[in-house]
Amino acid sequence: MNKRSTLKINDKGHLEIGGADAVSLAEKYGTPLYVFDEEHIRNMMRVYKKTILKEYGGNGLVLYASKAFSCKAMYKIADSEGLGVDVVSGGEFYTAMEAGFPAQKVYMHGNNKLLSELIYAVNHKIGTIVVDSYGEADVIDELAADRGITQNVLIRINPGVVAHTHEFIQTARTDSKFGFSVSDGAAKDITAYVLSKSHLRLRGYHCHIGSQIFEKQSFVLAAEKMMNFVGDIKNSIGFTADTINMGGGFGVWYTDEDPKLQLSDYAEYLKAVIDTIKKKSAEIGISEPYLLIEPGRSIVAEAGVTLYTVGAIKEIPGVRKYVSIDGGMFDNPRYALYQSKYSVLLANRATELCTEQVSIAGKCCESGDLIAVNVPLPVAKTGDILAVLTTGAYNYSMASNYNRNFVPAAVLVYKGAADYIVKPQTYEDLVRNDVVPDRLK
Ligand code: LLP
Repeated sequence: MNKRSTLKINDKGHLEIGGADAVSLAEKYGTPLYVFDEEHIRNMMRVYKKTILKEYGGNGLVLYASKAFSCKAMYKIADSEGLGVDVVSGGEFYTAMEAGFPAQKVYMHGNNKLLSELIYAVNHKIGTIVVDSYGEADVIDELAADRGITQNVLIRINPGVVAHTHEFIQTARTDSKFGFSVSDGAAKDITAYVLSKSHLRLRGYHCHIGSQIFEKQSFVLAAEKMMNFVGDIKNSIGFTADTINMGGGFGVWYTDEDPKLQLSDYAEYLKAVIDTIKKKSAEIGISEPYLLIEPGRSIVAEAGVTLYTVGAIKEIPGVRKYVSIDGGMFDNPRYALYQSKYSVLLANRATELCTEQVSIAGKCCESGDLIAVNVPLPVAKTGDILAVLTTGAYNYSMASNYNRNFVPAAVLVYKGAADYIVKPQTYEDLVRNDVVPDRLK
């Protein structure tokens, strides 16, 4: 089954997402508009869940990394699919709680969790906190002691694998704001420290080796290193981890420079990790640990399309042609930040041949405000609907009100019907928190 099957071109020659005509969506809801395909999201959640069930007897949990796209509806979908979630701030945790998500299935990350965030998390009986500093261990222990509870924790470690899209490197990297390095003994020291705290229950370890990774071997190597560390700790200080969290990072298709993975490919990545954990557990002589994974991008990225309306068009002879849209870096800062590449098409003329290369420019007062550079397109006209594909992850979640533009609304499409999951902002929203001191009145 092709996991991207709900994206098609219909008989009007329009782009269709989850059975809904993109041009009709743009007319009804306006642009810019984030469109999310629920079926795609659910298919991705299910493939990971089913793989843990089939290959590991269900001894684990898929945590949706909600930093990729956080809003109440996403926590509802994750809950209805039986997933847990990873949150990295009080705001994400609050959103999950507002959606009625079970707190026990929430894991909290962050290299500098605020006291207010920890208090809020512990008060709401968060399932697990992933410890990332000594001070944090002290604070959680005190908060738990005050409330007469024992808080489940994991420790974030750096197993010595750093992966990038098509390659990975093994490194004894100690220079990271995240986690404790295995190679310099820091991971072992914090383990002993956390074990000495009477109100912390250490379950095991977490690692996250990178994002947008296609190299299966990177995940396998990280799993080997995590398990080697588990074995070392068992032998040196007698603690046996019962939980291993392998983080997120599975890659997605943005352009034809990336592989177009099928659902079965994601199952295969995960199976390779599971096989490694099983093999290593037997070698070390421990029960197979509870397995957590934290996919974010691979669950929502390809489920999302952003629709824009084409505005000004400017051709600089011999240089380039700019096609400007009604959005920009305020709804998708990824080109400005990372020079990320995207595939674009005209949603209202989706069957027409691409006859020129253009750059898609945003409307911000900034020359670096681009969405895509030198991408093929038919000759665009003002009023066309431009669709940018694979914008479900790290677009809305990194959006801003720069230049006092609106963060666009988001709709969720399911079998042809669409509903708002994030309402449009208004001018009133933009000034809601502004205050004019008396002396300026
Ligand atoms: N777990 C942890 C602890 C993470 O730090 C991350 C991502 C994930 C899970 C999810 O990883 P994923 O499956 O989405 O690759 N803003 C960047 C991506 C930053 C990812 C940060 N951590 C972007 O737009 O590409």
